[in-house]
Amino acid sequence: MKKVGLTYDSKADYIFKEGDPPDANAEFDHPLTVDFIAGAIESQGFKVEKIGNGRQLLDKIKDLDVDIVFNISEGFSGRNRESQVPIILEMHGIPYVGSDALTLSLTLDKIMAKKLFIAEGLPTPKFFEVKPSDSVFNLDHLNFPLIVKPRFEGSSKGLDEAARVGNMQALGKRVDYILNTYKQPALVEEFIRGEEFTVAILGNNDSVQVMPIVQVKIEGRLKLGDMFYTFARISSDKLEYVCPAPISEDLSKKISQIATSVYKAVDCCDFGRVDFRVDEQGNPYVLEINPLPCLAKEDIFPLVAKEIGITHEQIIGRILNYALKRYNIEN
Ligand SMILES: Nc1ncnc2c1ncn2[C@@H]1O[C@H](COP(=O)(O)OP(=O)(O)OP(=O)(O)O)[C@@H](O)[C@H]1O
Ligand SMILES: [Mg+2]
Repeated sequence: MKKVGLTYDSKADYIFKEGDPPDANAEFDHPLTVDFIAGAIESQGFKVEKIGNGRQLLDKIKDLDVDIVFNISEGFSGRNRESQVPIILEMHGIPYVGSDALTLSLTLDKIMAKKLFIAEGLPTPKFFEVKPSDSVFNLDHLNFPLIVKPRFEGSSKGLDEAARVGNMQALGKRVDYILNTYKQPALVEEFIRGEEFTVAILGNNDSVQVMPIVQVKIEGRLKLGDMFYTFARISSDKLEYVCPAPISEDLSKKISQIATSVYKAVDCCDFGRVDFRVDEQGNPYVLEINPLPCLAKEDIFPLVAKEIGITHEQIIGRILNYALKRYNIEN
């Protein structure tokens, strides 16, 4: 029986420091999610060793005896945090599930990822960056309303109702908030009114498989207009996922094609999730790609699994098998 190590950052391990925003540990997994993933891997016929986070991996690495590592670790601070575990594993020649360090850093840094999307001709909202040293904003060709996000975070960190700004004064205030609270540059984007979708993808190269598209419903509405996904909404019942998205075949095809191109453009491995907004004229825009999407029961993977007629555990098994195949490890 093959042995799978599990690397993760548990919310239980995060110690809040003075000055931390309330969503400081938002990217980390709940202990129940870690247990669920361990159980799911076991249910697919593997033995599991829970390793823990990057520091715990370093402590254990000399005696580590696993065939592959299933990595869902988010890491600590900065745009390379998700790459910490993959780099340690690469240094020791240990195979792992999911994308490598380059892809994880490139995509966690939303500005680097957007530059790549533009180079590949993939649609993404117009944007500019504000660094702490910038004193004036050059709005360039962008139109209000805009949305202000931290440059390298996930889990809707830094996003609350005030993130969408309608004038210069609100923009200045919000940029200051992001710079001071998250200690990183701000990404300012054109706000896309309309609808929101997210697309899970599995596999590699010729076997890339787009899952049924999921649509985001907020406060019972699919036509979101000015509404968006905030940190507070994630943990409330105001946010629902609809799968499959009730959209035309034409839009579904367009979104699936763009999602596949994004996945391939950043060299995503085994699994990932691409987030979209579609404007009121039906034009899709890529917001980001997550090569380390949340696999929790509350997220979208159980929904897409059900839609394709398999269980949540089996989808985790498929992800693992894509990785084993990539490394030519016989199961
Ligand atoms: N340009 C935009 N126009 C409209 N809404 C946006 C835009 N950018 C972000 N949003 C809203 O903010 C949410 C979070 O943004 P984004 O996906 O870029 O960041 P994230 O924190 O990495 O996401 P996740 O929660 O998926 O990890 C989106 O799901 C969407 O609702
Ligand atoms: Mg997102």
